[in-house]
Amino acid sequence: GTAWRGLIEEYRRYLPVTDSTPVVTLREGNTPLIPVPTIAAEIGKGVRVFVKYDGLNPTGSFKDRGMTMAVTKAKEAGGEAVICASTGNTSAAAAAYARRAGMRAYVLIPDGYVALGKLAQALMYGAEVIAIKGNFDRALELVKESAEKYPVTLVNSLNPFRLQGQKTAAFEVTDGLGNAPDWLCIPVGNAGNITAYWMGFNEYYQEGRCTKLPRMMGFQAAGSAPFVQGGIVKDPETIATAIRIGNPANYDKALKVRAESNGEFNPVTDEEILVAYQKLAAEGVFCEPASAASVAGLLKKKDAVPFGATIVCVLTGNGLKDPDTAIKRSGDDQFYQGVEPDMASVAKLMGF
Ligand code: F0G
Repeated sequence: GTAWRGLIEEYRRYLPVTDSTPVVTLREGNTPLIPVPTIAAEIGKGVRVFVKYDGLNPTGSFKDRGMTMAVTKAKEAGGEAVICASTGNTSAAAAAYARRAGMRAYVLIPDGYVALGKLAQALMYGAEVIAIKGNFDRALELVKESAEKYPVTLVNSLNPFRLQGQKTAAFEVTDGLGNAPDWLCIPVGNAGNITAYWMGFNEYYQEGRCTKLPRMMGFQAAGSAPFVQGGIVKDPETIATAIRIGNPANYDKALKVRAESNGEFNPVTDEEILVAYQKLAAEGVFCEPASAASVAGLLKKKDAVPFGATIVCVLTGNGLKDPDTAIKRSGDDQFYQGVEPDMASVAKLMGF
């Protein structure tokens, strides 16, 4: 048939698997590249802007691309358990793929700083959820130590198979546009995804599947911006909890990506993130706050955008992950609660 078989099967020749590798898949990948004409019009200059809506993966984030590979390889090696530190999405994906593979998943999360939907997922998929009184950076230190001491496979983006899986997003973007974009705007936390996209674009370029390479434009929340500050941020803060990271696991790799792609790292404030989050929703695309950092960043850098450019903003996670932020950000003027159930009361609120 022609049904999508998941990214390992679809991109098998680019990935480190063999005929005997036990593929663990939930049919991830093949996510839509959606034009956002209102945002493009705000930039002007005849640009085309698309969002790569990776929130439509099976667990609602781009992490599924990495996790199908990481769990497949852990299974192939005879592993029985995986472990990760997470701001939420990695834990949801690790839990789902591990369960699918018949393995255990241990996830360490910063207590009180994981969006509700993500926590619900990790619990439902059956992970052992350990919420520490510390931030993501501390959780990552603990899982690294755990993976050295105990029989558990680390599935954070330090695991090289994660990036192998995630590079397929660059293949899809290039296949969808017929070439690489001029700019790739992407939120940056641990900087695994920006590194993976760059790998993917380069592999396609070397094969002649695209005739150019994008400038990699990474955006960080202003309160959690080690790449902007030029070093570790001790107490990172942002409403975009997914990227509340002060000591990125892929720091050196991402500096290389910036240098090789003539890219940049820039900060966006929480308010800029939330404004972009609402502009995306107004185009019919609901992503989580961290994802909107890519669009917030593009809008902030609009003067630097070349005329006629093709731009892709990566939307890393689904808006449903974080219902609290969505509801808080919506106005009282659009949400009337406790309304009397009669036509007159309802019609009045509808403005008729
Ligand atoms: N966007 C979302 C929605 C994320 O969940 C993450 C990372 C990023 C962007 C940043 O990607 O780390 O590759 O630079 N989330 C990790 C997690 C930390 O635990 O789910 P990155």
